[in-house]
Amino acid sequence: MATLSSTGAAAVFEGRKYHETTAAYALPNDNLEHQRLEQQHELLSGLMGGKLVHAPISHSIANALDIGCGTGAATHTIASAYPSTKVYGIDLSPVPEHLRTRLPNLGYIQGDFNAIVEKKPPDPRFLLGSYDYLFSRLLTYGITDWQAYVDRTAALAKPGAWIEMQEADYHWYRAPLPTSPAAPPETFTAHDLPLSDPDGLSHPSQAYRTMPFWSLMLGSLLAAKSLNPFAGSKIASHMLKAGLTDIRIRRYVSPTGVWPGLSPEAAAFGRYVNKHSPVTYGPVMRKLGRETGHNEKEVEEGVKDVEREFSGPNGSRMWFWIYVICGRKPPAT
Ligand SMILES: C[S@@+](CC[C@H](N)C(=O)[O-])C[C@H]1O[C@@H](n2cnc3c(N)ncnc32)[C@H](O)[C@@H]1O
Repeated sequence: MATLSSTGAAAVFEGRKYHETTAAYALPNDNLEHQRLEQQHELLSGLMGGKLVHAPISHSIANALDIGCGTGAATHTIASAYPSTKVYGIDLSPVPEHLRTRLPNLGYIQGDFNAIVEKKPPDPRFLLGSYDYLFSRLLTYGITDWQAYVDRTAALAKPGAWIEMQEADYHWYRAPLPTSPAAPPETFTAHDLPLSDPDGLSHPSQAYRTMPFWSLMLGSLLAAKSLNPFAGSKIASHMLKAGLTDIRIRRYVSPTGVWPGLSPEAAAFGRYVNKHSPVTYGPVMRKLGRETGHNEKEVEEGVKDVEREFSGPNGSRMWFWIYVICGRKPPAT
């Protein structure tokens, strides 16, 4: 049974705990979610060849910010790799700091990033033009206005600073069956995209695009909360509009399930997504359905479809793309 907090957000829904702020973020913040985020961090690192930071930042930068830092896994990695940089992580929910050793150059702030940046008088930790590097990863379920979000990060950046966003685009692609013609070898490898084709529409993987019922249902529930499951491929153009330059786009195949042609790291990620998808998407669909007043029977059909999709030892054999987009605030002239 859902309990409603004073903000109207559900603090507990079907046994899972959620943040109680007015922010849009739709996923839980309990121990189970912390474990998922920790595992996801490790697997993403494998998927990206051990690389977290893609922007060409120098080791002498003074400060960095990880927005929506979750358990602090990425924040801690950045602070360890850049020991002379003061690194902050901000999140709606408290960061479980007991998971790692404390670092002298790392600090956490609890709050809604969008609200804190707009605060008047300004919070001294979020002064305009004060950061050398701003990073965020997997905020699709939390950001309702991506242009405003990118504009805010650009406003916080110093001239010459880099901004890096790592976000999914939840358009789905179905891997060919063993009996189908083989996919071109580059289909399942990471690649750079030009600014003229940030969606990769000319890439051979486009031929495998699919739109299962449950993803349509989830998409419409997210849209009813002004959330955009396809944000990853749009960020480059938001960065361009925000006045950033040197924009670089790289995307990584993120499988659900396992099939021939995947690297061991991609297969490990695929096993993880396959296992977590039904237990993550089902409850989220029910919660969003309740909050948006969606027809309950239809939502249940979506939940059943998602459970069907990810059943079986090798799961759904689909993939989506995770985009890494870096942009630079023009240096002062
Ligand atoms: C899917 S988790 C990803 C966590 C982390 N970035 C990572 O990759 O491991 C998204 C996180 O963003 C936080 N979040 C969402 N909206 C936010 C906002 N407006 N301000 C601060 N944090 C936010 C959530 O609380 C959650 O911890």
